[in-house]
Amino acid sequence: MKDIKSFIIYLSSSMHVARLSQSRSKTLRMHTGKTHEILSELFKDLSSVKLSLGGNQLFLNGERIEVGMEIMGRYRALIQDLKYLSIGSITFTKLPEVREITSFVYIIGKTLSSNIVSFDRLTRRMEELGVKSIKIELLEEAEEIKEGMARTIRKEAVKNLLGGISYLKNVAQDSNEDVNVARRLVRKFSELVLKDPGYLLSLTTVKNIGSYTLNHSVNVCILSLAMGMELGLSRRDLIELGIAALFHDLGKFDIPGEILDKPDKLTNLEYEKMKQHPYLSAERILFLRGMDEIPIFAVRGILEHHIDFNGRGYPDIGVKKPSLFARLIRIVDSYDAMTTPRLYQPVTTPFEALKNIVLNPEVYDPSLVKVFLNLMGIYPPGTVVRLKNGLIGVIVSRGFVAVVDKGDLVEKEEKEVLIEKAISPEDVDVDPASVIAALGSYEGTSGI
Ligand SMILES: [Fe+2]
Ligand SMILES: [Fe+2]
Repeated sequence: MKDIKSFIIYLSSSMHVARLSQSRSKTLRMHTGKTHEILSELFKDLSSVKLSLGGNQLFLNGERIEVGMEIMGRYRALIQDLKYLSIGSITFTKLPEVREITSFVYIIGKTLSSNIVSFDRLTRRMEELGVKSIKIELLEEAEEIKEGMARTIRKEAVKNLLGGISYLKNVAQDSNEDVNVARRLVRKFSELVLKDPGYLLSLTTVKNIGSYTLNHSVNVCILSLAMGMELGLSRRDLIELGIAALFHDLGKFDIPGEILDKPDKLTNLEYEKMKQHPYLSAERILFLRGMDEIPIFAVRGILEHHIDFNGRGYPDIGVKKPSLFARLIRIVDSYDAMTTPRLYQPVTTPFEALKNIVLNPEVYDPSLVKVFLNLMGIYPPGTVVRLKNGLIGVIVSRGFVAVVDKGDLVEKEEKEVLIEKAISPEDVDVDPASVIAALGSYEGTSGI
């Protein structure tokens, strides 16, 4: 049993390392060496090793693998990766050489980090690189599952996004709203991220529902949760992170609109007022109905969400290194703010926003930035791209490009799409958010 757990950990982490590293690095070889070691142990009792996926569970030679919390993060990541690649099983027909394992995870890693996923291409690459003792099988009904579930999940995602925004609007107006509604919402978002991480993330490119702060807060909540799951946080921590993210700017509702929406530079006095919003947000959540215990981590996340990685920023409360939640929210908060068109700020494309974040390691924790990059891909959702075949598309998620013509969605492309480069939406007159909203049959709302 111990071997099986280690096997899951090392196989998944090898794939993860391969996804991040440029070449077959030393770290990657260390991981695959370890995978080889564990496999040799397993081969002492077994003549072949088959890891297969059934629903949301993994099986080893037909037997369900029991997992504890200690490997839950890796276990879940492996399932997600296999689903994303449409791989139903990986069979080691005999003990592979370390070289074969390295080539295999290298191919997998590269595919995971690209926007191109094709099962045929995967098997072809495996043949080309001489991976003989590892076989993969296509996830049965992968296509049908994708098609059938995608629509329902998308509708659900839109429904919850709208629900989140109107709940938050009520909270802003009435401090006695029930925090359990937020907890349920966060749980729902986490489930949706698990089922279809791509679509919910891409929905955060829709920025015009309700006021800026409302839409922004829900977006930051979704992005933070996706990050938290990528980090393998426990359910409990995820809920607290989600609460922190959802309410991080709640205090802005206590600041006059003339300051919030002022197109010109704020006066010193106005800026001082603005800088109080982390306190005000933290204070407000403590008064929500159902908030029985003080959520220390959420409060810290909210209080410190404008403190840079190097300790600068506000409020000046002597924090040298902001807490994990705060560092995480700092990244997704800026990303969402930068990519939202506002009166006093030219809109930045998702591609440019990511670049800005990467180039400011003193503000954003570089190790978390790596996780964020991994999550969003080189071309984040909402990026308008020119495809190698000359068509224009909008990135919905990794491996999913919606092809548009004169701004309208014409095709949902999922196969081998080769991207030439990111382009400016204005140049081709495309509104990426409306293309993404159209996929979830979102028709806009009034009155929020
Ligand atoms: Fe803020
Ligand atoms: Fe914010």
